Amino acid sequence: MQYQFPDNFWWGSASSAPQTEGHSLSGGKSATIWDHWFARQPSRFHQQVGPAETSGFYQHWRDDIALLKQLNHNTFRTSISWARLIPQGRGELNPQAVDFYQQMIDEMLAQGITPFINLFHFDMPLVMQQQGGWENREVVEAYAEYADKCFQLFGDRVQHWFTFNEPIVPVEGGYLYDFHYPNVVDFKRAATVAYHTMLAHALAVKKYRRRQQGGEIGIILNLTPSYARSGNPADQQAANIADLMFNRSFLDPALRGEYPQQLVELLAQHGQLPECQPGDSELLEAGIVDLLGINYYQPRRIKCRDSLVNPDSPFMPEWFFDHYEMPGRKMNPYRGWEIYEPGIYDILTNLRQNYGNPRCFISENGMGVENEGRFAQAGQIQDDYRIDFVREHLQWVHRGIAEGSNCLGYHMWTFIDNWSWCNAYKNRYGFVQLDLQTQQRSVKKSGEWFARTASENGFSG
Ligand code: BG6
Repeated sequence: MQYQFPDNFWWGSASSAPQTEGHSLSGGKSATIWDHWFARQPSRFHQQVGPAETSGFYQHWRDDIALLKQLNHNTFRTSISWARLIPQGRGELNPQAVDFYQQMIDEMLAQGITPFINLFHFDMPLVMQQQGGWENREVVEAYAEYADKCFQLFGDRVQHWFTFNEPIVPVEGGYLYDFHYPNVVDFKRAATVAYHTMLAHALAVKKYRRRQQGGEIGIILNLTPSYARSGNPADQQAANIADLMFNRSFLDPALRGEYPQQLVELLAQHGQLPECQPGDSELLEAGIVDLLGINYYQPRRIKCRDSLVNPDSPFMPEWFFDHYEMPGRKMNPYRGWEIYEPGIYDILTNLRQNYGNPRCFISENGMGVENEGRFAQAGQIQDDYRIDFVREHLQWVHRGIAEGSNCLGYHMWTFIDNWSWCNAYKNRYGFVQLDLQTQQRSVKKSGEWFARTASENGFSG
């Protein structure tokens, strides 16, 4: 069967400033929480590899954009580093950063690659974290100023903006499950951080619209469809609460401008609601996006709890459900995540049926592989497993579009193997292999496949 995609479909890949630029503390950039945490606790990072060790996009950007062109990308997402652009978090701009981002954007446009620019990818400037990070409402204002500065500087050429990538991850990692700085485990503080993030998002959207630059603004959410173990009401109820906590807590404000009533009631009942101020509801409503980015990696399998909750234990999402390892599920043998391709179609269908069929695109999807060097033959990684992964997900995207979903593109995570938070280089995701020592780039078999697919606007399979 031929899988042909709509005209002008966005074919590309995604990355972020903190994971590719390197030069963590040069070029006038100040530290982020990642530089700070790594300096204090390097053992929390795989093989003690920190945020300075990247593919050096800050230096190699021109060659990397040429490589994007070679792989027939018509779009590419990266982010602007707040700590590089405004080293003190507020106020003065770093002229070297302004030059760098201007040139990078201009070069993408010159090569026929539309830049998709995200503003925040887990990289809180340390100065802002020292003022309380997202727990402090002042930081919401500071972020909106930073966002507005980006619109002012680059908005004449960038027409696709995103306020946040996976805003739930710093909440879960930094305030619930201890895999990001500041390593707090406290639901109420997590809820406050989540709430302030969405206020910051809405304020940035408002500022963008006020400028009338003719482009669009969105947010990128990692959506993990919650599948119940069975049709049993207790399992269904558990899956519903997981969906409220992990998906709808960001999806509803982004697309409906308000939180789900059921979530608000649940948190209120347990004394976990963040503090609101007059005018917040109107602000959230103003944050409804023009475009939604969907990051999809794996689903969430849920069952009802096996045991009663100890009411003296700290309040956690897991009070309401257990995670469930579905027997027979297909796993990525090289990264330990489930692979469930129809999940991407279920997300699109849910958006079409329940959220007014918004303009959206797949902003990340990809397959991490440990020790990927073992698949090299004659100098090229033979990643047929990744080709299958992408092809099979695209088949489901194609079906979603055929049924009417407003899905405009597909971006793979990621272009060149990159540094990934605490996992550093443990899991490789790129279309292009990176030799960290020599900085050499080598296109993998999947990169060649993708280039063909993009130029033919589809594939047969
Ligand atoms: C995505 C993030 O969710 O997962 C990326 O947006 C991250 O920033 C990617 O690099 C892969 O994560 P990991 O843990 O497999 O390296």
